[in-house]
Amino acid sequence: MSSDFQKTCQTAGVIPVIEIDDAAIAADLSHALQAGGLSVVELTLRTPAALPALHAMKAACPDLIIGMGTVLCADDARRAAEHGADFLVSPGLTNPLAKAAKALALPFLPGVATPTDIMRARDHDYHFLKFFPAEAAGGVTYLKALGGPFGNVVFCPTGGIGPDTANAYLRQPNVICVGGSWVASRALIKAHDWSAIEDNARKARAAVKSGV
Ligand code: 3PG
Repeated sequence: MSSDFQKTCQTAGVIPVIEIDDAAIAADLSHALQAGGLSVVELTLRTPAALPALHAMKAACPDLIIGMGTVLCADDARRAAEHGADFLVSPGLTNPLAKAAKALALPFLPGVATPTDIMRARDHDYHFLKFFPAEAAGGVTYLKALGGPFGNVVFCPTGGIGPDTANAYLRQPNVICVGGSWVASRALIKAHDWSAIEDNARKARAAVKSGV
């Protein structure tokens, strides 16, 4: 059964993965992504600016659905929740993190790369998973193979995906959205190139398949 969170991500189609060094640019960045038609963002918890940036992005664009990514442990999950994250994303899954996310009652997109990872996620009742690192782990071919034993699991592949490869993922029946940093790369953010980010967002939106 698909959750509201899963439907929201499916509608978004492409989830930009963002790393921010300076929370002061968060408002401009949010406006560019939203103007380009994207509605869901993963903001990574990799810099000291990440949590202040989360506040600033929510304040600038209250309709933007912003998840905290690179959540590695239960404490990260709690800090993200305290700062207003709409959902959590992790590159992998541990039992303590799964329990913390459940206790926080926040939507959670746990990362998986192997059948064993997927089985652990299913044990915790997660069936919508981040396939990471998608390209390095085997890409579309690997995802096709996972479709056999895990027919009731759907993925958001992330890692190494770009504008030229997003469509191949989005065409897979077990893929409902893709993620990646190409829409708002560190270089574009550093250059304050909001028009390029808006343009990338618009093109990414156009890649989204309909009616899956
Ligand atoms: C990440 O968590 O770093 C994301 O998967 C982004 O990967 P990318 O930079 O290869 O798009």
